[in-house]
Amino acid sequence: QTVYLNGEFLPLHQAQVSVLDRGFIFGDGAYEIIPVYSRHAFRLQQHLQRFAASLTALRLSNPYSNAQWAALVQTLIARQDEADQSIYLHVTRGVAPRDHAFPAGVSPTVFMMSNPLITPSAAQISQGVSCISASDIRWDRCDIKAIALLANVLLRQQAVDAGAVETILFRDDILTEGAASNIFAVRNGVILAPPKDQHMLPGITYDLVLELAAQHSVPVEIGYFASSVIRSADELWITSSTKEVLAIVTLDGQPIANGQPGPLFKRMLGWYQDYKQ
Ligand code: PDD
Repeated sequence: QTVYLNGEFLPLHQAQVSVLDRGFIFGDGAYEIIPVYSRHAFRLQQHLQRFAASLTALRLSNPYSNAQWAALVQTLIARQDEADQSIYLHVTRGVAPRDHAFPAGVSPTVFMMSNPLITPSAAQISQGVSCISASDIRWDRCDIKAIALLANVLLRQQAVDAGAVETILFRDDILTEGAASNIFAVRNGVILAPPKDQHMLPGITYDLVLELAAQHSVPVEIGYFASSVIRSADELWITSSTKEVLAIVTLDGQPIANGQPGPLFKRMLGWYQDYKQ
């Protein structure tokens, strides 16, 4: 497997980073995940823009222009066997003696890898998936795609332990997002979505779902929704670059509406699949 590290493409086993890297010591860096279908990086410009915004928020200078990133991503894609991939971009503040304050004169560590793209199974798409809920214990800058993911890791594991696919997060009883995904609800034919504020990651799939809704004249209400609204919704959806769009049919063991993927989900899934072609 070929990866990219600090200016070189090399085999994974030769890619090595110092234990003093601030990514390792402090989780001091940002990342991005880009799905690749048939060697085409999906919504690449949007992902690169969000990556640039994450780096700016961390006061890290972007090592490359979007055009340079795009060329590197294309090279990495071309060097893999699989045509469908998940590209991981990662920049940390670099290697320096341990000190919370930013080091002077240190160059960032730049890493990229490709993994096989694992998309939902046919059963998950047709039957929907189960989720649990938890209170959102993360910090106040969830809009940054930071590599420090301890809360997300713990929250996702709670879902796995419960035999569910994701943990839906509520901050003071208001829906934010999933541990590694965005969440939508449907009520009376209207798509309900949380706003892109500092309590959720602005999902690239989230934006696409809202674009597709607008194209097909489906009404959308952006707002703050209490857990009672979410639990009594007609439909619940989960979105991410790797989950695409899935229907959530149970939450904490209770069915959402009749416990089956809803009609608007089926339409949205069709629009999403057409868009991907
Ligand atoms: N996660 N919210 C969080 C906290 C996420 O980690 C993700 C993505 C999303 C969805 O964003 P997008 O539609 O751009 O993938 C929302 C990726 C897939 C991950 O960390 O593996």
